Amino acid sequence: DDSLVILGIETSCDDTAAAIVRSDGEILSQVVSSQADLLSRYGGVAPKMAEEAHVQVIDQVVQQALDNANLTEVDLSAVAVTIGPGLSLCLRVGVQKARRIAGKFNLPIIGIHHMEAHALVARLIDKELQFPFLALLISGGHNLLILAHDLGHYLQLGTTIDDAIGEAYDKTARWLGLDMGKGGGPALEELAREGDPDSVKFSIPMKQHKDCNFSYAGLKTQVRIAIESRNVNTYNPISAADCQDRKSRADIAASFQRVAVLHLEERCQRAIGWALSIAPSIKHLVVSGGVASNLYVRSRLDHVVTMNGLRLVCPPPNLCTDNGVMVAWTGIEHFRMGRFDPPPPADEADDFV
Ligand code: KG4
Ligand code: ZN
Repeated sequence: DDSLVILGIETSCDDTAAAIVRSDGEILSQVVSSQADLLSRYGGVAPKMAEEAHVQVIDQVVQQALDNANLTEVDLSAVAVTIGPGLSLCLRVGVQKARRIAGKFNLPIIGIHHMEAHALVARLIDKELQFPFLALLISGGHNLLILAHDLGHYLQLGTTIDDAIGEAYDKTARWLGLDMGKGGGPALEELAREGDPDSVKFSIPMKQHKDCNFSYAGLKTQVRIAIESRNVNTYNPISAADCQDRKSRADIAASFQRVAVLHLEERCQRAIGWALSIAPSIKHLVVSGGVASNLYVRSRLDHVVTMNGLRLVCPPPNLCTDNGVMVAWTGIEHFRMGRFDPPPPADEADDFV
């Protein structure tokens, strides 16, 4: 059925997002409210504060998504909502909202896995992307390499044994005193452009492990030591006047980024070999999740993928970072296959905890 209209709700971390997507791939609306002020004030996400921020804006965000699409709840076919992984306090806000709407308007509800949504949104933007495909998912909390055989049928080739790459970007940015408002990643990417990527010799993580797993905790420690030994004036916002300091910070940023991404490149190279031996018909590597909005990351991985005769599929930046579109779209994929829950009874929709 190509006239499904699904509302997607995402509250797993610090962004409150809602979007309405039609099954022909048309995005009817998308709204994201991010906790930029909290992030720059506290340099990270505190679950309790994040929860309160979601509670404050969730009704507005969903209403805005409906208004922007010129729709009301009765026009919806179903409601999709992220049920994990994520901060449970935050997830609950979205799930409760979804259940209220579904209960009141008698709509089916589709529980969505956040990482599956990051991967499948690639099929919304690239209609030629068929299963099976390979996906590298890089965000603040996760680093995954998966072979997507089919909808709901995923083989995990690798994961992080400690921190995810986004966490390493965020910590490095914070230690360098960058503005955390948009998350540390974008600020670090920008500063790295001014630096020399070969100036600080960080070692590539897990070189001796011939697998597809990731590790970023050791690189974080190396960065911390480099900052301390260079006496870089951290925790203070950098300014243009601060020339000398700015240059040494940019060198650290660029050197960190080079090695952080080299680790991804190596793992992708190996995963492509593995994946092609398991599923020779694979033609695509999807790269998604917040860190995939980084242009340096995209161009380096594009090189690896092209060298191997595959094609890189990378959603536009606003669909790489957390958003409601990916949730709504994944809802459409599941709904089409008959995977959804019946509407919660109207009088019980509030009981969920
Ligand atoms: O997928 P996402 O929005 O939320 C999670 O599921 O975690 O990813 C957020 C992560 C943060 O660590 C953020 O710093 C990082 O993605 N990120 C970036 C960039 N934009 C966002 N990292 C590097 N470069 C970027 N341009
Ligand atoms: Zn995410």
